[in-house]
Amino acid sequence: MSGLNNPKIPQPKITVTGRIPDAGLDLLRSIDGSDVWAWMDDAVIPTEVRNEQLADADAAVTLLTDRVDDDFLAAAPKLQIVANVAVGYNNIDVDACTRRGVIVTNTPGVLIDATADLAMGLVLMSTRRLGEGERLIRSGTAWQWSMFMMLGTGLQGRTLGIVGMGGIGEALATRARAFGMRIVYHNRRNVDTEVEQRLDAQRVDFDELLATSDIVSLNCPYSEATHHLIDASALAAMKSTAFLVNTARGPIVDEAALVEALVNGVIAGAALDVFENEPTVHPGLLSLDNVVLVPHLGSATVETRAAMATAAASNVVEVLAGRTPHNPVSG
Ligand code: DGY
Repeated sequence: MSGLNNPKIPQPKITVTGRIPDAGLDLLRSIDGSDVWAWMDDAVIPTEVRNEQLADADAAVTLLTDRVDDDFLAAAPKLQIVANVAVGYNNIDVDACTRRGVIVTNTPGVLIDATADLAMGLVLMSTRRLGEGERLIRSGTAWQWSMFMMLGTGLQGRTLGIVGMGGIGEALATRARAFGMRIVYHNRRNVDTEVEQRLDAQRVDFDELLATSDIVSLNCPYSEATHHLIDASALAAMKSTAFLVNTARGPIVDEAALVEALVNGVIAGAALDVFENEPTVHPGLLSLDNVVLVPHLGSATVETRAAMATAAASNVVEVLAGRTPHNPVSG
């Protein structure tokens, strides 16, 4: 009788191209006969090492720092699945995978709360000038409480405009409602009526969202369609008192245009967890006090990273057993 983790092929080779939590590795190792090879360093795997380990791989577990393109796939002629340990999969050429019959999976669901928590944190950090305050104290500059010192913007009664009302957008809206915010969103499709009613959220077009929001939060996937969605003209359409928060993907924002907008007071501030040319940050951002910068920490909790690794590994289990994976993606 075959167990849940019984693969169709004997001794499947699984190549894990980046360091992932043990929960994921343990699940991969529990696949009968599996030969799991994992890169155990936080630095990005060198291409030669990666290609060597892909040569006989039936499954690859990848991180968002891997580029899964024709070169990657050419090095992996036996590959059945690329299981990305991320919800975003813009690092993967899904069409190229599909052409070669390679299934691509991601890890939606498990990182919703962690990412929404971080987005809400960035809303608070930017509107209440927390990074600026921290820098002031750490700089050793003398300070004293005063009535007008570092005044921020309150959230109560303000409008949060969410671009991309998927799971993370919805979870952010839930948090923002607890802060007394009003929610508008822009999405390709309407969200469930129950969700709209619970959040008292209103679907608006992109221009209206930009013009009416006090905070614009980007929670949409990155694709050709969302490349530089926030460019100079989108920034000019925002209120001069508004803030931009990006926890989605860097290239959704034209970073050079954002620097200009922040320098010239076109908008009040921004908070970025992701960057256009990650891990490089536009030098113009570094000297600005009205921008909060954090290093792609959206899903960075111990619990969430373990859940992501487990989700990716269980997609591998399914595909190697000849079943449909839990989280297939398409191009
Ligand atoms: C994702 O999953 O896409 C995040 O950006 C990284 O956790």
